[in-house]
Order: sequence, then C-alpha cells, then structure tokens
Amino acid sequence: RTVYVNGEYLPETEAKVSIFDRAFLMADGVYEVTSVLDGKLIDFAGHSKRLARSLSELDMRAPCSDEDLLEIHRELVRANDITDGLVYLQVTRGSAGDRDFAFPDPETTEPTLVLFTQSKPGLAESPAAKSGIKVISVDDIRWGRRDIKTVQLLYPSMAKMMAKKAGADDAWMVEDGFVTEGSSNNAYIVKGGRIITRALSTDILHGITRAAVLRFAQEAQMEVEERSFTIAEALEADEAFITSASSFVMPVVELDGSAIGSGTPGPVASRLREIYLEESR
Ligand code: PDD
Repeated sequence: RTVYVNGEYLPETEAKVSIFDRAFLMADGVYEVTSVLDGKLIDFAGHSKRLARSLSELDMRAPCSDEDLLEIHRELVRANDITDGLVYLQVTRGSAGDRDFAFPDPETTEPTLVLFTQSKPGLAESPAAKSGIKVISVDDIRWGRRDIKTVQLLYPSMAKMMAKKAGADDAWMVEDGFVTEGSSNNAYIVKGGRIITRALSTDILHGITRAAVLRFAQEAQMEVEERSFTIAEALEADEAFITSASSFVMPVVELDGSAIGSGTPGPVASRLREIYLEESR
C-alpha cells in the first residue's frame, strides 16, 4: 500500500513519524475519514471544511491547502487502485522534539500530515445493511468537545468492545439520560414517520453524512426533528439507524437485547440509504 507522510508518497513499511509526535504522546491530533465509491470521493468538501474547523478549535495550523489535500486523496485512491473503500487523514500538532504539556511554538513546529487508504470492496453492498445491526447502550464518559474530531478514541474503542462482548455490533452512548451518538456514528430513531436525531452542539460530532441525510430527507418531504431522545423512547420507536462515512445509513434492529419495531430494517432507514447512495455517487 502506498501511504502519504509529510509531502511524500511511500510504501507503508517506509513511512515514519517521530516518537515525540504529540498525537502519539497526547492524542494531540485530528482526523477525517472520507469514503470512496466507484473510485469517487464522497463529500470531500464537507470533510475538508470540518477538518479546518477541528484544526482551528485546537489552534492548529492547516498543513496545506484544500486543493492540495484533494490532490493527495485522489493520488492515493489512484496509486492503491481503490474502487470502494476509505481514505483516512490525520493532522497532528507535530513535535518539538521532547515531551511537554504546553503546545510547542507553531512558528517553529511543523504539523504532521498522514493519509492512507483502506480498500473495502462492496462497501455499499454490506450484508449488515440488509440484516440491520444490534446496539447496546453505554455511559458516555468522553470529554466535552465531541464536535472536534480528535484521535482521542480510547473510550469509543472500549464501547465497541463492550458491544462485542455483549454479542452486539456497536454502542449508543448515553449522557444525562439521553443518547448522544454511536461509538463512531450519529444515532437516529423514527416514530410515526418522523426522523428524530440529537441537535448539533459540542456534545456530538457534526456528521457529514448526517448533514447530507437530513437534507435528502427534507427534500423527500420526510419530517425531521432535531432533539435528544432516551433509550426508553428508542425502544418504543418504529425504526432506528445510524449514519457515518463508513456505514452510510445503517439500520439498527436491536437495542439492549430488545427488537426495535419489527426487528428488521425499517422502510425509512432503507429508503434513506437508497437515496443517500444514489445522490452521493
Ligand atoms: N467516524 N460521531 C462520531 C463519534 C464519529 O466518530 C463519526 C465518524 C460520526 C459520523 O460522522 P461522518 O458522517 O462525518 O462520518 C459521528 C468515522 C467514520 C470513524 O471514526 O471512522
């Protein structure tokens, strides 16, 4: 696999980053995941805009222009012959050559930019989309700036492992009685034809797929309500689903061991998935 590190395209075995890089020592970095379908990047503009916001919220410098970023994405998709898959991008604050809690001087510190691809043949035809996935609820004990897409992903990883241990696929995180989001996706329920999802704030990541799906839903005259919901309400819902760049729209058919609605993917989730894949390809 060819990867990109700080201006160079290299075989993955030759790519190197300093052990003093602040992402390695302090999770001081941000990332983006952009999907590729039929060799085409999905919603690159949305991802680069969110990257710029994550960087600015953390007083980090952009490593290069959006045009350069797009070119690197395209070159990696080409070099690795990706038809369906993902491009992972990470920008870290870099390193001042030692460990220190204070940020190094941005004038003399170069950010680290790393990109790599993941080939996922048939990404859009995942069997999970036909069967739906199972989720469990877990406490949301993450930090309070979940709108910044940082590489601080230990708790989401633990939540995913708790789900696996319970025989489920993913976890919905709950704070003050309300669902925030999935371990790496946004969460939705459907009741009486109405699509309900938590409003944007610092409590959740502002999903690029979420923005597109809500726009398509409104264009298709579906009702959307942006508000928080509880696990009890989700258990009474007709349908549930998640969205993310890697899962698009994925039906959720079971929550904490109980079926949601009919226990099979619902018509709203299935229709939104169809519209999303059709419109973004
Ligand atoms: N995760 N919420 C969280 C906590 C996420 O990590 C993600 C994305 C989303 C959905 O955002 P988007 O629609 O822009 O992908 C919501 C990516 C896919 C990941 O970590 O692999």
